[in-house]
Amino acid sequence: MVSNMKPKLEDVAKLAGVSKTTASRVLNNRGYLSEKTLKKVHDAMETLNYQPNAAARQLFKQETGLIGLIFPTVSNPFFGELVNYLEYELYQRDFKVIIGNSLQDTDKETDYLNQLLAGQVDGLIVGTHNQGIAEYKYSHLPIVAIDRIMNSDIPIVESDNYHGGVLATERLINAGVKHIVHTNGPSSLETPAHRRRVAYETIMKNNGLEPHTFTIDFKLSFAEKKRRYQQLFDSYPDMEALFVSNDVDASIIMAIAKERGRKIPEDLLIVGYDGTELMRNVMPQLTTVVQPIEEMAKIAVDILLKRIAGDKTESEYILPVTLWEGTTGHR
Ligand code: RIB
Repeated sequence: MVSNMKPKLEDVAKLAGVSKTTASRVLNNRGYLSEKTLKKVHDAMETLNYQPNAAARQLFKQETGLIGLIFPTVSNPFFGELVNYLEYELYQRDFKVIIGNSLQDTDKETDYLNQLLAGQVDGLIVGTHNQGIAEYKYSHLPIVAIDRIMNSDIPIVESDNYHGGVLATERLINAGVKHIVHTNGPSSLETPAHRRRVAYETIMKNNGLEPHTFTIDFKLSFAEKKRRYQQLFDSYPDMEALFVSNDVDASIIMAIAKERGRKIPEDLLIVGYDGTELMRNVMPQLTTVVQPIEEMAKIAVDILLKRIAGDKTESEYILPVTLWEGTTGHR
């Protein structure tokens, strides 16, 4: 006999062979759930033509109107401007944001993730600087990464780091210097920013010059970075030029050079990286590779919304960089 009664959550749970609590967690997308459990409950819902009520349906479809943004720290102008543009773009499209600063703290990133993955947001946009975090693997949420290599299911938006490395290194070689040092983060970090180093080392070798890469962790405090960069000056007393992997560090190095009586550009050339609007205005003399931050944010939002809609996307989006010609990169 076919019942005319509308199926209830208990019926779904019974058919799926799970508890009502588990069926409810699937419905509300809360907590970790295995693929097997998700499938069993979804199949049971379909078989019974289970229609959740409006509130539950909103949760079921994850229509929270919220997007999580997890970035290292908005105190760095690159990430600050990026988050600013992301928030602007998302707001235009009726989304609000929840922001987590994850720098130096894998546990904090995991904590944000667990909360956000538990049905609190419709999608995530995440940046780099923490090592692989397992929770991302189990996520059913649409995610887009910026500057961070996650896994084959998560599309990545980045600027052309290799070309940026070429532009910076060639700028310095064309200025006539030979002893050029490059600073970059640890190669264990899963980020395409390493391609700046690959480009630097390749161009140096192609020009018969010896590459010297100085590894420094982006996460260090200002005091710690100053100490490390003093060591860099001590280690390379004959250094004629530096290609620095971000503008904040380039400005720390410029301050140390001044303390040490090294005049820029007369005694030392510097090319930075990022070219944020802030740095181009407060330090226009710094020659730097400009990442198209606004376009990166727009594309990341476009892709995320496509993923939320269930549309196909590419796995990698590489945007062009340009060189900001200040006075520190040539004489
Ligand atoms: O300034 C922050 C740096 O970290 C940027 O170069 C960005 O690309 C990231 O890797």
